[in-house]
Amino acid sequence: MSAKLPSFSSRFAFIMVTAGAAVGLGNVWAFPFVVGMNGGGSFIVIYLLALLLVATPVLMAELLLGRMGAASPPTALANLATKAGSRQKWSLVGWVGLVGTIVILSFYAVIAGQSMAWGLLAASGEFSGASSDAIVAMDQDHKATVYGPMLWHSLFLLMTTLVVTRDIRSGIERTGKYLMPALFVILAGLVFYASSTTGFGKALDFLFNFRAIDLKPALLIEAVGQAFFTLSVGVGGVMMFGAYMGDDVKMGPAVFAIVLMDLVVALLAGLAIFPLVFAEGMDPSAGPGLVFITLPVIFARITGGAVIGTAFFLLLTFAAITSAISLLAPTVQRLNEAGWSRTKAAFVMGGAAWLLGFATIFSFNIWQDWHPLSFIGALDGKTVFELMREGVSNIILPLAGVAYAYMVGWRLKREDVRQGLLMPEGIIFNIWYFSIRFIVPLAIAALFLSSLV
Ligand code: TRP
Repeated sequence: MSAKLPSFSSRFAFIMVTAGAAVGLGNVWAFPFVVGMNGGGSFIVIYLLALLLVATPVLMAELLLGRMGAASPPTALANLATKAGSRQKWSLVGWVGLVGTIVILSFYAVIAGQSMAWGLLAASGEFSGASSDAIVAMDQDHKATVYGPMLWHSLFLLMTTLVVTRDIRSGIERTGKYLMPALFVILAGLVFYASSTTGFGKALDFLFNFRAIDLKPALLIEAVGQAFFTLSVGVGGVMMFGAYMGDDVKMGPAVFAIVLMDLVVALLAGLAIFPLVFAEGMDPSAGPGLVFITLPVIFARITGGAVIGTAFFLLLTFAAITSAISLLAPTVQRLNEAGWSRTKAAFVMGGAAWLLGFATIFSFNIWQDWHPLSFIGALDGKTVFELMREGVSNIILPLAGVAYAYMVGWRLKREDVRQGLLMPEGIIFNIWYFSIRFIVPLAIAALFLSSLV
């Protein structure tokens, strides 16, 4: 099996592709609005703790499981369970993850589709000079019909599918190697522009000053969910890349680079967006509409808004593509193991995400008032889209994370794990190992329990 497994061509390629999986809509679309809704700097502190103490150790564990299991997630986990002498059905954890990848991909494509549509609107000057009512109306019109979002989500999924049909090096790897640097250049340009506006100081204060906030369990769960989502941990996407990474890449420095890039992009996205929001006197806690309504309103007013707006939505689209391929890669590899060609597998699974994507599209129009789980108090008022997004990030990702941590920390041999990571014996390894065995499971268990009471 491992002989047939493809691999990336270099350490650089692995890091760029995995950072590309991490950096996505979660950084540029979700992070700013989640921070904005949860009060700014204080939330960022909690988010940093969740990112570094919980999600990063699990990212390393998930990559390691891929490398040691050397196959698609269900097969890799089954291989390792056999090796660890476990009789539990570990492949099940892999399968739940694969379902998670397609669910995420389905709503991801709809939001990415709107970024493409908005990039076109910005480029064609549609926003320039438009009133905020007109822009709210554009957003509503886009969502009110099924055709508009469908056209764009189809296009986005088609691009993603085509990349994944190719072999690893000419498809996934090349996309990451070109789009990630391009993304950094665009983002740097946007932050440079934002730093010249009058809102920059206020944005710095908002993002980096600690204010007292209410530490509800819901807020902590949101922070952990966002941390897992942004690092792409918990459904086997990065496990797949761990399997492709090659045996000579040292895990510690690679993970450090990936997490750093992910964090820097999230913070820079905040620094690109919030100065404009404050300079124009808009509301930082606007929620999910921050990127698709608030920003275009600003692009409509400022000089050069068409160029800045186009650059921004191009950035968002690039970030989304490199993440979406990581969501399609694991199921395609699994079907490939079952004898399917990559092309057939990619079209079938891309098609599955396409169909499921209608649930998200409908959540914005004909199912807008359908709240299927309203009989559960806390879930009342949530649309199918919100249930899918929050269910996967706040429940499936952390629970799968605990399962990975359990496999790595308690089932596999310590020495095999250390060698698999290519890490020297020492303080860093010990801290990581301790957090995988104790901190990660306890933190997540505490969160789930506290949200129940
Ligand atoms: N991390 C990506 C983002 O921030 C999304 C993503 C890609 C993802 N692959 C994943 C999330 C796997 C969870 C699991 O937008």
